[in-house]
Amino acid sequence: MAPTAAPSPIEISEALSRRVIGQGSAVREMAIALSKKLAGLRVGNILMIGSSGTGKTTLMRAVESYLAGDPELAIRSTVIRLHANVLGEEAAAGRPGEAVLRRLLERAREQLGVAAPIEAYLARAMHGLVFVDEVDKIRSQVGDTVNVRGIRAQEALLTLIENEAVPFELPAWMGGGAVTVDSSGLLFVCAGAFEGLYDAVFDRVTIGADKGALQPVTVVEGGRVSEKLVFHLSDWLRNEDLFDYGMSPQFLSRFDAVVLLQDLTEEELERIFLDSPDSGLHQTRAYFDSRGVKLAISPNAVTAIARAAARQPRLGARALKEVFRRVVRDLELQPEKSAREGVVVIDLPQVDRAVANL
Ligand SMILES: Nc1ncnc2c1ncn2[C@@H]1O[C@H](COP(=O)(O)OP(=O)(O)O)[C@@H](O)[C@H]1O
Ligand SMILES: [Mg+2]
Repeated sequence: MAPTAAPSPIEISEALSRRVIGQGSAVREMAIALSKKLAGLRVGNILMIGSSGTGKTTLMRAVESYLAGDPELAIRSTVIRLHANVLGEEAAAGRPGEAVLRRLLERAREQLGVAAPIEAYLARAMHGLVFVDEVDKIRSQVGDTVNVRGIRAQEALLTLIENEAVPFELPAWMGGGAVTVDSSGLLFVCAGAFEGLYDAVFDRVTIGADKGALQPVTVVEGGRVSEKLVFHLSDWLRNEDLFDYGMSPQFLSRFDAVVLLQDLTEEELERIFLDSPDSGLHQTRAYFDSRGVKLAISPNAVTAIARAAARQPRLGARALKEVFRRVVRDLELQPEKSAREGVVVIDLPQVDRAVANL
């Protein structure tokens, strides 16, 4: 594909940032990759690592809707998103890579219509963007147990990544028949939470093989001086840690960039709670509206909800929903009963009561 005018990385990152709060470096990396991809240039594959609920799937969805929202771009990009486990299942059935190629071809058919020549579908599909979500689920071992399906799934991806000759059975709607396709133009963006990786790396640099590597630093907090271990995964993560986690060296070597998503701050959680279209606040507000009742919430209450959510380990922004559910639980049966002049106001005391035993 010849390079053509594509949206700049800045334009793209601004668009993505409307849906993804924070996560600056992941958004930037994605925007640069997408800009190059849309210009028809080759782009290295990306691996995103971030705790659950930090926005990995949200970022993938943001890219999908960014592309879908502009007819010019929609027609130039074939994008699919799939769960890594699908790869394990098809690999077990002896058809590695097939699900990815079939879905890409289906997307190409949606874009080109049903009457295009086979070569056009193939050309379009082979320059697609493939999101593989929950890629940590295809680790090759869990504890001491070998995960055969995971190993196969990694191999299935390997058959597609940077491979110029992938044997493939055309789907029936294309007339069937065995062909060889060049999948080296695909861009893969894989993401996973890699739960346990953080602790494993922390252990390595404190009590494990690299004991003593992480030294305490002196911090001053509230006028008091103390020694503290300050650990950022991004400072210490090495490829070996991912091998140990169960991603094969061959698999990892196909990624040019490993991008870490950060745990969300209280302030970011507040913004997600207030602005995200699928936040519990918006959903409850829509429900109350449907009952003819307005929902108002005080800034103090919002802060308290974000703070309570930030205390929930390993849930990320998902904790906002859990916390908010507790707050509105008793209001939902009869919102009109709790309303004064048609408005339900949620204030700090209600939140404090709801999160007291969290
Ligand atoms: N950085 C973020 N910006 C906006 N919303 C977010 C962010 N992180 C998480 N969320 C919200 O939290 C929920 C879970 O996020 P998701 O992206 O699915 O997490 P994961 O990183 O586990 O894939 C979604 O409802 C999403 O709206
Ligand atoms: Mg996810």
